[in-house]
Amino acid sequence: MAATRGLRSLKGMVGVVTGGASGLGQATVRRLVKNEARAVIVDLPHSSGEALAKELGPSCAFAPTDVTSEGEVQGALTLAREKFGRIDIAVNCAGIAVASKTYNFRKNEAHSLEAFQKVIQVNLIGTFNMIRLAAGEMGKNEPDESGHRGVIINTASVAAFEGQVGQVAYSASKGAIVGMTLPVARDLAPMGIRVVTIAPGLFETPLLLGLPEKVRSFLARQVPFPSRLGDPAEYAHLVQAVVENPLLNGIQVPTQLLCLDLLLVFQLASSLSSHLLPTGPLGFLALLGLPPVLGFKALYCLFLLDGGYLLRTHALPVILDHFL
Ligand SMILES: NC(=O)c1ccc[n+]([C@@H]2O[C@H](COP(=O)([O-])OP(=O)(O)OC[C@H]3O[C@@H](n4cnc5c(N)ncnc54)[C@H](O)[C@@H]3O)[C@@H](O)[C@H]2O)c1
Repeated sequence: MAATRGLRSLKGMVGVVTGGASGLGQATVRRLVKNEARAVIVDLPHSSGEALAKELGPSCAFAPTDVTSEGEVQGALTLAREKFGRIDIAVNCAGIAVASKTYNFRKNEAHSLEAFQKVIQVNLIGTFNMIRLAAGEMGKNEPDESGHRGVIINTASVAAFEGQVGQVAYSASKGAIVGMTLPVARDLAPMGIRVVTIAPGLFETPLLLGLPEKVRSFLARQVPFPSRLGDPAEYAHLVQAVVENPLLNGIQVPTQLLCLDLLLVFQLASSLSSHLLPTGPLGFLALLGLPPVLGFKALYCLFLLDGGYLLRTHALPVILDHFL
């Protein structure tokens, strides 16, 4: 790692960032490069990782990767080592979500096991896959004079602690990331590798930026202070603080104070039966199939609680604009 005792510096370090093509991951990649570190974007082949790497220049590379694949994650780490010589930082930002109740009594239908498994697979197993393989790569580093070899940063969510109606799969995946932080940190401490998990509240990622202004200001009001959504650059700043402060290890760091109003709105939503919300055109069809007004509110509430990637439909901003 770059510095010796005490506070460290990003300068000269090499980081791999899963989900690095979008949102929080992208902000992290940008911050690494801006601070004279080098970064490998580890994201799906169809993501904008390639274009971002091109934009950021020779200090950045793209490794098209599905984080659930052992071979692909190993390939991304090998690329990082071959191109930049070492791996000091691994940031896990890749994540997905579905919204569905444990059992839909109106439809007499249980939560889709496939959907549950998919969320666990990407969010939890994908994160662990990167942790375990990146740890192996970091273990090859010569320790600095304080014994540091690397740092791993995971991304959980407020849903790890305050899971809401319809968030069973997502909360389980994020709660497990929080749960594994301490044992992984203990496992890797003898090798001088630190592990910290950040639990974001509400951040202004690309989908939220596409919402009408009044929807975004409604969301912002749900945060008592500061009353606004988090800027992905603030998440990236926290990543930098974790990397540079060698005392942070084995802990989870929540980002925002959320208002109880959100929970009250959820009580209203909880009277509705659950829906798995597919993406794209299917998501729009699912939306149409829901009870009017309350259904939109329920979707909206689910949408609120995790940064908005429960729905991936261009129709959503228009609908929210109409109903709020
Ligand atoms: N934005 C928020 O308000 C918020 C709140 C709480 C937690 N989080 C967490 O932060 C992380 C980043 O969220 P975001 O808002 O930036 O999301 P995002 O949707 O903007 O970015 C997620 C990225 O992960 C990538 N990805 C998805 N599945 C993948 C896979 N199998 N392999 C590799 N890459 C994959 C996507 O291509 C995308 O680029 C997620 O883990 C999310 O759960 C976000």
